[in-house]
Amino acid sequence: TAVSAAALALSMSAGTAMAACDDGEIVIKFSHVTNTDKHPKGIAASLFEQRVNDEMNGKVCVEVFPNSTLYNDDQVLEALLQGDVQMAAPSLSKFEQFTKKFRIFDLPFMFANMDAVDAFQNSDTGQAMKESMVRRGLLGLDFWHNGLKQFSANKPLEMPSDAAGLKFRVQTSDVLVAQMEALGASPQPMAFSEVYGALQTGVVDGQENTWSNIYGKKFFEVQDGTTETNHGIIDYLVVTSVDFWDSLPDDVRTELATIMKEVTETRNAEAFAVNEAAKAAVIAEGGVVRQLTAEQRAAWVAAMKPVWEQFESDVGAENIAAAQEINA
Ligand code: LMR
Repeated sequence: TAVSAAALALSMSAGTAMAACDDGEIVIKFSHVTNTDKHPKGIAASLFEQRVNDEMNGKVCVEVFPNSTLYNDDQVLEALLQGDVQMAAPSLSKFEQFTKKFRIFDLPFMFANMDAVDAFQNSDTGQAMKESMVRRGLLGLDFWHNGLKQFSANKPLEMPSDAAGLKFRVQTSDVLVAQMEALGASPQPMAFSEVYGALQTGVVDGQENTWSNIYGKKFFEVQDGTTETNHGIIDYLVVTSVDFWDSLPDDVRTELATIMKEVTETRNAEAFAVNEAAKAAVIAEGGVVRQLTAEQRAAWVAAMKPVWEQFESDVGAENIAAAQEINA
């Protein structure tokens, strides 16, 4: 049956994972959904794996499972709580079941650029968010950057009215559902691994994502074009379970946290460049990229920004004000 085939595939990949680790090492399975070499998250996860396996050899062994080979984002937090994996880095949009605080990151046009996101995350408010799910069993270690989101569709998108009536894949986030409804579009929450097929077969007409995701999963090949709207962000929280983290010997926990912090600083500084390279690659491979005039952009802002009001009580008016202060 399909179920036993899937179970077999899972146990085979788990078997491969274990083969790379030595007896007696603490094993950290790190599950994520992107590629490993052309993506801000994928590169960061691989660097963490490499550094831990070099520097903590004999004590800890990290095994990265990329490209949704182990879990989709809608399963991975439960898998963390079950102890089936020990680390993951879902986008901040994927934590709805655990906290509503992260909704601020999904509000359209909340952050002017990734420097503003970085500053907000490094503020006391941002740092406290890493521990906002502890009573639900999840601990955030560090924020990892991806970048600004763009819209693509099976027809040119110049004005917000061009999106009206179209079906757009969104991540599983109520804010993103509301954002698409504000455009008169029909939001379709769906796992990342299913988006290419859904665009190709016409199950959805369009999507929103960063350049590294649009390039990494080849969405541009099955879209009319991508419009550089920079209307929102995709960023991540590296998470572990409180149970796993507390079970570690103190010295191991400290060393892992130090490596994680260094990897975060190194790779967050490169995230913008990785996305720019992906955008250039989209263009080089024949993808159409459209720019907005100032008036067109203002129309997108006017159509989408009213969504803030709907979520103000979840994210806190004071946090919205703090984010706007950083933008200024
Ligand atoms: C998405 O689902 O589109 C993104 O969260 C995927 C990712 O991890 O960047």
